[in-house]
Amino acid sequence: MSFIVGLTGGIGCGKSKVADLFAEQGAGIIDTDVIAHQLTKSGGDAIAAIRSAFGGACITDDGALDRAIMRKLIFSNTAAKLRLEQILHPLILEQVKVQLRQLQAKPYVIIVVPLLAESSAFRQRVQRVLVVDCIEDTQIARVIGRNRMTDAEVRAIIAQQTSRTDRLRLADDVINNDDGLENLAAQVSVLHQRYSNILFDH
Ligand SMILES: Nc1ncnc2c1ncn2[C@@H]1O[C@H](COP(=O)(O)OP(=O)(O)O)[C@@H](O)[C@H]1O
Ligand SMILES: [Mg+2]
Repeated sequence: MSFIVGLTGGIGCGKSKVADLFAEQGAGIIDTDVIAHQLTKSGGDAIAAIRSAFGGACITDDGALDRAIMRKLIFSNTAAKLRLEQILHPLILEQVKVQLRQLQAKPYVIIVVPLLAESSAFRQRVQRVLVVDCIEDTQIARVIGRNRMTDAEVRAIIAQQTSRTDRLRLADDVINNDDGLENLAAQVSVLHQRYSNILFDH
């Protein structure tokens, strides 16, 4: 079995960017966001269950999850959010296991889990937690640049996520991403050396 690092961080903190940099170094990467998208695209494995739980109104004409409608629904409705997670999380975990088997030859595997702080099932599966962290102003500026959202929209999402303090409390390792990409790559490189040399025999 591979040595597994759980990578998490708030929206826009740089999880995907950090994962790309680890991939360049030779790490195995599993991105649960990518898996969630595949499960909910047209013909995805979660569509039937979502349709029967939430009705056809949240499915687009071509059979994909309508993300805008679902986002609105779960934003103010905790029960709906839980329901969606109950559908998605087991399917995501299943796919993670499949990909872990495919990545057995890698020196170690980084699993990107935005909801690591909220998911004990995932925390139990990782040997180490890596948090990519930055100040809120950096988060907001980067998400506005990436998604054309407003300052208020990004702040509302941040307010719903686990707080920065609580996330950092889970961390075995922290990458700070307030600086430029060169600095980020240097931090990844140091951690890559460390993770490559961890002897893991569970
Ligand atoms: N150090 C950095 N300098 C400049 N832009 C960055 C840096 N880190 C990330 N970005 C950019 O900020 C945005 C958010 O990063 P991303 O990795 O997508 O965050 P996350 O996956 O955590 O939501 C992306 O457009 C990304 O290219
Ligand atoms: Mg991302």
